[in-house]
Amino acid sequence: MPTIPDRLSVRARETQESPIRALFSLSKRPGMISLAGGWPATELLDEPGLGASLGGLTASERREILQYGATSGDASYEQACRDWLADAASLCLPGHRFLSSTGAQQAIDLVARAVVGPGDRVAVEAPSYPAAIACFRGAGAEIVEVPSDDHGMQVDLLEGVAGSRPLKAVYIVPTYGNPTGRCLSMERRRKLASLSAAHAFFVVEDDPYAGLGFGSRWPLPVAGYAGEGHADSHWAIYISSFSKILGPGLRAGFALLPADVGAAAERSKQTTDIHSARWGQAAVSRYLSDARMPSQLDRLRGHYAARCDELCAALDRELVPLGFSYRKPEGGMFVWGSLPAVDSRLLLDRSIAHGALFVPGGSFFAGNGDPSTLRLSFAGADVVQIREGVRRIARAAAELLVN
Ligand SMILES: Cc1ncc(COP(=O)(O)O)c(C=O)c1O
Repeated sequence: MPTIPDRLSVRARETQESPIRALFSLSKRPGMISLAGGWPATELLDEPGLGASLGGLTASERREILQYGATSGDASYEQACRDWLADAASLCLPGHRFLSSTGAQQAIDLVARAVVGPGDRVAVEAPSYPAAIACFRGAGAEIVEVPSDDHGMQVDLLEGVAGSRPLKAVYIVPTYGNPTGRCLSMERRRKLASLSAAHAFFVVEDDPYAGLGFGSRWPLPVAGYAGEGHADSHWAIYISSFSKILGPGLRAGFALLPADVGAAAERSKQTTDIHSARWGQAAVSRYLSDARMPSQLDRLRGHYAARCDELCAALDRELVPLGFSYRKPEGGMFVWGSLPAVDSRLLLDRSIAHGALFVPGGSFFAGNGDPSTLRLSFAGADVVQIREGVRRIARAAAELLVN
């Protein structure tokens, strides 16, 4: 007699729980310091600004956004997102189709459904964002890991990867990425765009951290190079989100897609959630058109830069003497490092006992990742918690190293 677990779909059985989400309940324990989540700092979210922007809506506009809306998103949201990208990132993709999404996460999933089928090869940098890998796997992809260094994915290696058997897509978080905080160099961005045209694979560029450069630098996205010299073969898919800069509870994201991919993703969205919440879209579009974003980004960058400095100083003091190595990021939310001779999953177990959380690096690899790596977030904790959190992790590491 089959059991209920036997009757789950293969896809449901094979989808793993997100290793980062699994730490969520632990982070709520009294006294626990979490350097684990990719969460923005709650106290830095601009609730007054969003409230004022929403307060500017008339009663009839508010009633209107309680009604069903277009699957692709509200026209005012599309215009505000396109204007913002043109202004902040110098990115204009007028021929691309716009799709509003319930966070960047949904856009990744819709893209995976639109372009990936069983057995298709999708390349990701190693390490990469695990919930994206899960979307591509869910669509049946074979994941190919491409190593990365201080300048991001080693794009040169893609030539061999794509040459051996066709690639369907390359997924990349090129700017202050999760988990490494690194930026893909300009040369590699250009090369990636030209390889995608030459080998006919999509570049799925996931860019939610680009606004968080400490020096306010927002590098030209890979999509900005695509089409250079290949005007008729524009394989760029650009995804972004307001989760990290305005608030993840808004679930406001979007994608710019080649027309046929956009149409397919929109059909999928119709059966997923019909459309994304219109109050979130309205809040964001009003916020952008009220020109509140530049000062919010300045505020976040200032605080995150200070928290990053604090985290790196604490690491230098407490963990580097134990052999820890890392590279200081220039933006985003994360520091990535390695403590050789220590399995970071065991280190996490000990750290939990000492009252601190981080994410073991193995979670960010599609295959067997380097077990000595770990990701620490400086965004969600204040400077006192950061100092104490690292002290606790170092105490746990010292115990492991003597045993
Ligand atoms: C690289 C990356 N992409 C997408 C997401 C999901 O973001 P959203 O809240 O917009 O769905 C995250 C969240 O941590 C992320 O790090």
